[in-house]
Amino acid sequence: MIIAVDGPTASGKGTISKRLAKHFGLPFLDTGLLYRAVGWTVHQRGGNADNSADALAACAFDDDLLDNPELRSEAVGGLASRVSVHPEVRQALDKRQKDFAGQPGGAVLDGRDIGTVIAPDADAKLFVTASSNARAVRRFEEMKRRGEQVDFDDILTDILRRDDRDQNRAAAPLKPAADADLLDTTNLTIDAAIQQAIALVNAKTSGRRDKDPA
Ligand code: DC
Repeated sequence: MIIAVDGPTASGKGTISKRLAKHFGLPFLDTGLLYRAVGWTVHQRGGNADNSADALAACAFDDDLLDNPELRSEAVGGLASRVSVHPEVRQALDKRQKDFAGQPGGAVLDGRDIGTVIAPDADAKLFVTASSNARAVRRFEEMKRRGEQVDFDDILTDILRRDDRDQNRAAAPLKPAADADLLDTTNLTIDAAIQQAIALVNAKTSGRRDKDPA
């Protein structure tokens, strides 16, 4: 069973996807991490994330990099969004994601184009959203908890800029697949969002993989 989860930054899709993977006993791939690894590598090499040749050269990163906590920073998220615009970069990361989705037994993948490009035949597709304000508040709280210096307006501006770039790029823009279920987490606790996500997947798959039916 393949579960595709897409949505904008700080929508809750990462947490929801991990919990879906645990619940249904499936392996999980955070595809944003691949783009983050490319963005980080370009930066380390002194390259330009907006230059397609620099970004493509960075696609041959060492897999150990995926464990580097620096990839999770806001700055690297911005670099990832910039390198992800290049069709050459998307193509270079395509097979790895499709192979992961196609493994025996299936998988959960989260990203921006999973339901539309990477796994268009997924058994269940969720598009997780939340208002930009709610997403900025979450990011703000998360960064404050980590002891980082943060300004709410800067975070909101950054989120809006990333949304705009991810939604309006020509190659595989962020958008719900025609057959995706929308899950708006603006007014949901994380536990409520997870329960709704499980229910949506079960509705699409007739509960055939539910290890813990409610
Ligand atoms: O999910 P994330 O914040 O880690 O993703 C970082 C950036 O990577 C995101 O702004 C756009 C890009 N991305 C993408 O284009 N396609 C994906 N499947 C996943 C991420």
